[in-house]
Amino acid sequence: MSGTSVDGVDAVVLSITTHGDVGFPTLHTIGSASCAFPAHLRERIQLLQTPAHDELERAARVALDLARLYARAAHETMQAAGCTADQITAIGAHGQTVRHRPTDGYTIQLLNAAQLAESTGMAVVHDFRPPDIAAGGQGAPLVPAFHAAVFGSPEHTRAIVNIGGIANISVLPATHTGSALQVLGHDTGPGNTLLDAWHERHQGGAFDRDGAWAASGTPDQPLLERMLADPYFARRAPKSTGRDEFNLSWVDSTLEHYQSATQRLLSAADIQATLSELSAHTIAQACQEANASQVFLCGGGVFNADLVGRIRSRLPGCNLRTTDAIGIEPMAVEAAAFAWLAARRLDGLPGNLPAVTGASASRVLGSITDPLGRLAPHR
Ligand SMILES: Nc1ncnc2c1ncn2[C@@H]1O[C@H](COP(=O)(O)OP(=O)(O)O)[C@@H](O)[C@H]1O
Ligand SMILES: [Mg+2]
Repeated sequence: MSGTSVDGVDAVVLSITTHGDVGFPTLHTIGSASCAFPAHLRERIQLLQTPAHDELERAARVALDLARLYARAAHETMQAAGCTADQITAIGAHGQTVRHRPTDGYTIQLLNAAQLAESTGMAVVHDFRPPDIAAGGQGAPLVPAFHAAVFGSPEHTRAIVNIGGIANISVLPATHTGSALQVLGHDTGPGNTLLDAWHERHQGGAFDRDGAWAASGTPDQPLLERMLADPYFARRAPKSTGRDEFNLSWVDSTLEHYQSATQRLLSAADIQATLSELSAHTIAQACQEANASQVFLCGGGVFNADLVGRIRSRLPGCNLRTTDAIGIEPMAVEAAAFAWLAARRLDGLPGNLPAVTGASASRVLGSITDPLGRLAPHR
């Protein structure tokens, strides 16, 4: 998995044990690794997020470099798990989102899957999102189905919040009633992406370590309200978003309106604190609307102490922990979700939840690239 934060590739080995025809398969992660993007690759990916000259050529070259880094992540995670390539059925590889325009009918995740298959000697399942969009869905979030498969509880309604560049929530109703309660989920809005970008512009470095810079500022309520006036927050789910919508241009134009209305000038640290409030407010509000008694956080945002503190203070009385408490370390959850989605593809099973993405029906997600015929014996 490499997400909208453009920080690197997270990989995990997921073991799936089936128990005959009865019951659900048991899933557990047995090794993980993260490979940071080299600065030049991160920069080239970021440049591809907005339309510009010579995109096709640059996209093709980035897709190749991504395949090489994904291959390294695959090797490192197998090493961590103590397993070899012949023990792996396939790689589930998300690729790098450079456009997400579901209402225009497309989303683009760059990755040269043939090169990844060639470099690893494995089959690759990729391009998970387009089939959901073709069926009228948002193509995102796709992780709620996996969260439901691993994180459900008989007694408690649980919310799983993944704080990546964009944050998303999965709401898992308590399963004790026996009736088929619907799993819900949507993108809540920006998670780390605006914090990363504002920090990079003013402080340099890819992210605000522990949220220390945000913690040094004072949030501004009128600016927060102006940010919250963006129509995305009032839209009802199904909804998904990306860096197409929430980026530095969005911050700049919000600030321009704020300054011309209030004549106030805020420090860059105050603005960072307000951006942290924005992520915290929208995440906490989604948890409250879900009536979740237990909230589990995952994704890199869990390491931002300032952000987590702000979420916590908005959810008094709520049992807020990271997914470590329910069996998967926070940086491995999304990678595990795409390993699981790959397994669903190979078994011919649906991967999307239409109630979450808005697709007209369930769809089997992902394309298979298997140039070495690795999957033939499994058919
Ligand atoms: N120690 C830390 N302090 C603050 N933020 C952190 C820290 N470690 C990771 N992050 C945040 O997590 C992000 C990466 O999270 P990740 O789950 O990989 O997101 P994505 O799926 O969008 O790539 C970084 O860009 C950064 O914002
Ligand atoms: Mg990441």
